[in-house]
Amino acid sequence: MRAWRKTWVAVVSVFILASPLLGGPQSSSPRPFNLIRWNHGKFIFGVDYYPEAWPESQWEKDAEMMQAAGINFVRMGEFDWVKMEPEEGHFDFSWLDRALKILSAHGIHAVLGTPTAAPPAWLYAEYPDIAAVNAEGIRYRFGSRRNYCLNNPHFLQATRQIVTALAEHYKNNPAVIGFQIDNELGNPYCFNRYCLAAFQNWCRNKYKTLDALNRAWGTVFWGQTYTAWSQIPLPWNTLFGVHNPSLALDYDRFFNDSTKSYLELQARILRRIAPNKAITTNEMGLFDAIDYSKLNTALDFVAWDNYPMFDQNHSNYFGPALAHDLMRGSKNNQNFMVMEEEAGLPGWTMFWGHQAPAALYRVWAYQAVAHGADGVCFFRWRTSTYGTEQYWQGVLDQDSYPNARYRIIARMGKEIQRLTPVLEGSHVVSKVALLVSPDSRWAFHIQPLTKGFNYNRQLYRYYDAFRRRAVNVDVVFPQDNFSAYKVLVAPSLFVVNAELVRKLTQFVRGGGLLILTYRSGVKDSHNVYTTLTLPGRLAPLVGIAIHNYDPETTQQQKIVMSNGTSYPADVWFDILTPTSARVLATYGEDFYAGKPAVTINRYGRGAVIYVGTEPRSSRFYSGLVQLVARRTGLALGPKLPNGVEMATRQKAGEKIIFLLNYTSQPQSVDVGAVTRNALTGQAENESVPIPPYDVRVLTRR
Ligand code: GAL
Repeated sequence: MRAWRKTWVAVVSVFILASPLLGGPQSSSPRPFNLIRWNHGKFIFGVDYYPEAWPESQWEKDAEMMQAAGINFVRMGEFDWVKMEPEEGHFDFSWLDRALKILSAHGIHAVLGTPTAAPPAWLYAEYPDIAAVNAEGIRYRFGSRRNYCLNNPHFLQATRQIVTALAEHYKNNPAVIGFQIDNELGNPYCFNRYCLAAFQNWCRNKYKTLDALNRAWGTVFWGQTYTAWSQIPLPWNTLFGVHNPSLALDYDRFFNDSTKSYLELQARILRRIAPNKAITTNEMGLFDAIDYSKLNTALDFVAWDNYPMFDQNHSNYFGPALAHDLMRGSKNNQNFMVMEEEAGLPGWTMFWGHQAPAALYRVWAYQAVAHGADGVCFFRWRTSTYGTEQYWQGVLDQDSYPNARYRIIARMGKEIQRLTPVLEGSHVVSKVALLVSPDSRWAFHIQPLTKGFNYNRQLYRYYDAFRRRAVNVDVVFPQDNFSAYKVLVAPSLFVVNAELVRKLTQFVRGGGLLILTYRSGVKDSHNVYTTLTLPGRLAPLVGIAIHNYDPETTQQQKIVMSNGTSYPADVWFDILTPTSARVLATYGEDFYAGKPAVTINRYGRGAVIYVGTEPRSSRFYSGLVQLVARRTGLALGPKLPNGVEMATRQKAGEKIIFLLNYTSQPQSVDVGAVTRNALTGQAENESVPIPPYDVRVLTRR
């Protein structure tokens, strides 16, 4: 199975309790959640804090240092189940009350984690089968974290008890402004008897009759027809390690639904007992076991954990940028926050990567703001002396010395409070969207095409090309409305249903430009191969037929544009036969040299570009962006130097422009107009200098 990702006092102002009027919890209202109002008018500037691991004598000093750095928010408690409930049914929040009191006296509010990611040893001892079972049938044992089964009744009951006690204890405490449910939900997959029974029940609810299930899954293949619901297996390890792809895709949906119902079980308790507290959970960007667009309906706002150092391939800036945009898109483009923002070198048993200059942590944090974050909370306040994460640097090291990372974050703390009136109420507005299909991503995990195939890499390639011309990009999901966009890029749209095809057709007919790539329209929603000529249901829109294709193995291939320029290409080659489309590029090698590789088809008032392969050169993608701009009137920004990003937020009559320099060299960007530096208030010329590892925030009316 796929790899895991390793896995806020009493500033006692009475009106805090009336938070719904002030932009607080939105359970019954579609009004966008206002994070700044929720945090009492302050941009959320926080740290993840673990006071339980430090002597109480140090807490006051910690709070003083936080306050001096502009910290007004902490997240705490997400792994403290055993400290909150040392014995079944006996709760102790006194230590946390004392920590909150100290923080509160320094103007710091808290979000408390429901501690369910780390169930206590006593719970495992009493109910060993709360642990998940892996695909080989081996039950995880106590140790580490997150190894529980989402469908175990004892675990669900224990969850209800601790979440109820936490909510009851803090419902009237103004120091606590919200809750984070669990921690990084999304693993592990579990193959025990509880999940088996729950999956069989899920299948029964979905298909109603076994006949319908057998037909939908094509169980005629290899004689897998089921004659009782109890025969349906989980996709556990089998002799050849493979399962019916239809069953496997439904398991992925089932796991997503199980995760969602676990989150909603907690959200219901919190809402009922503490309706004035906001609810979120910390998510993981491009992590793909979970369809966040489905998970997030129960939350007030999205929060996620941003570790740019993991993104070794993408110069450490467009990778996190895409993840920010995906997280924003997973809840209707509402502003979000980063619950864990990298503040030092990551590592567990080894250090992962090399040390970044302290100044870069500030640039990454501003990047989050540029992409719609109204809050940044740094992980973690201080590096641990204990446990697995002794190598994971926090803002401070174990010695609490006010190091360069602390100083740069403190600088941002001052700046961000000055920027708050400028930022509040502003949003990212985009004319280009990238369609992420969770069904397709799951289906590609089940049948990965070729060794070289990587769904996310295609997302990055198209995303980079637009971002290099300073074009904002939204991420949308199949159930979203596409009508606000001029351009929609939907790489490898493998799994499609009639509704999605209808929406894409309507988008193009209305004048939109759609970019599709290889292996689109291949599967229906049951992960069953189409009997239509490829690209299946999308063929009329694309104006091509695909009668042959070539998975890349070792051959060198290239595409040749009509002006003779060629670009190397790999992964997959669809050999295209235009039916109504015009050819933009042909293949350069092999038995299909000269055959169409890239086409454009006018349809209604719009057009569809089909890229039958994966060009390797960024010049191909930048050329495509220029073509798209010419056809659609999409405004392109300046050509950005490598290592420099430009992103905009806007509100009535005002654009807020962020220029971010991730390099060690001075850079400059011609923003095409005179602007005002939002921090200094000074006018800036069209060409704006950005010092190494620095940021400019500009406004323009
Ligand atoms: C995150 C997790 C944190 C901490 C951090 C560093 O994924 O939420 O609890 O473990 O990684 O490893």
